[in-house]
Amino acid sequence: MRTRWKTHAILARLQAELDELQRADQFRKVGAVEGINLCSNDYLGLSDDPRLKLALTSAIERQGERVCSTGSRLLSGNSSQWEMLEAKAASFVGAEAAVCFSSGYLANIGVLTSLLGPETTVFSDAANHASIIDGIRLSRANKVIFPHGDLQFLEEMLRASNDTRERFIVVESVFSMDGDLAPIEDLYVLAARYDAGLIVDEAHATGVMGPNGRGIVAQSGRPDCVIATIHTCGKALASTGAFVACAETTRRYIVNKARSFIFSTALPPFAAEQISEALSIVAGEDERRRHLRLLSEYLRVELNSRGFDTSRSESHIVPVVLGSNDTALSVAQSLIDRGFGVKAIRPPTVPAGTARLRLSLTSRLRFDDLATLVRALCDAR
Ligand SMILES: Cc1ncc(COP(=O)(O)O)c(C=O)c1O
Repeated sequence: MRTRWKTHAILARLQAELDELQRADQFRKVGAVEGINLCSNDYLGLSDDPRLKLALTSAIERQGERVCSTGSRLLSGNSSQWEMLEAKAASFVGAEAAVCFSSGYLANIGVLTSLLGPETTVFSDAANHASIIDGIRLSRANKVIFPHGDLQFLEEMLRASNDTRERFIVVESVFSMDGDLAPIEDLYVLAARYDAGLIVDEAHATGVMGPNGRGIVAQSGRPDCVIATIHTCGKALASTGAFVACAETTRRYIVNKARSFIFSTALPPFAAEQISEALSIVAGEDERRRHLRLLSEYLRVELNSRGFDTSRSESHIVPVVLGSNDTALSVAQSLIDRGFGVKAIRPPTVPAGTARLRLSLTSRLRFDDLATLVRALCDAR
């Protein structure tokens, strides 16, 4: 039997705010995605891969294997599986060391709150993910938000901030809402010129971009140009959790200082085995990466030639910018009615007036699916 809550002024206030969201077409609902899925982060289609299932079941069935970590990594939650995974993750990216977190959100919170502080200034791209924004807020660093991708503005701000504070620049390597890539080589130059530490969130690049899916920083061949890269394991790696790749000193510092690492129960050891297997699998999936790249290029060409705005997309994330919230909602609904699983992305996730469909492609899709999608979009607008 469920308890019905008594009326309370606080609940009335919550309801009033929800009504306001509804009026502004910003109300969000949890719901199942049906049809051809165009909002999944399962970029390489590994979420039902038999090799990953086998890695999981054999880890669980192995004698003596725990199904729960039993504590924080600094208490009883550590296990050899996590240590082996961290060594493997570091060499996957080409870094000196790696440290695992229970999610990408917690990794960003942990890295930013531990490395930054009131005595530092952070330069953050305006399109950075909510987990980066929250990490910066919690760090209480002095912050400068630069317009998305505007390195000229960034340089002016770096030049103007000629105080003695330590400086950091934080970007995503594949931006989650626009699907464009960070100009990584130019960022290395700026970071070196102004003696700033670069932090790069590779959430949407891990498994997909760079040689063997090792990410944009690995592709540049200069992992030592960054202070840390953040890699989520719940997207192309079809697993869970995240790892941060960095210098050994930074790893030790994070283990000692990052509260989201210290004060949170570690994921179970079988999760480490799944992620480890996923790293081996993605390294050999060039064909899926190639198919995904060709799909993305095809979709952009087809949409652009019909006048759709795909923003700056140059990856498997292809936004279709539609403008107002109600247009985005009605186009999304008509695509759903035609069998596509899409979501309208609205402010505050994206800037006001740029509500969009965010199409995230996976290697499971076929060119035919995208041709049908383009026709459906033309009919819906
Ligand atoms: C750029 C970026 N960073 C971090 C995260 C958080 O990762 P996780 O879902 O593993 O918490 C996301 C998730 O959507 C993301 O898009």
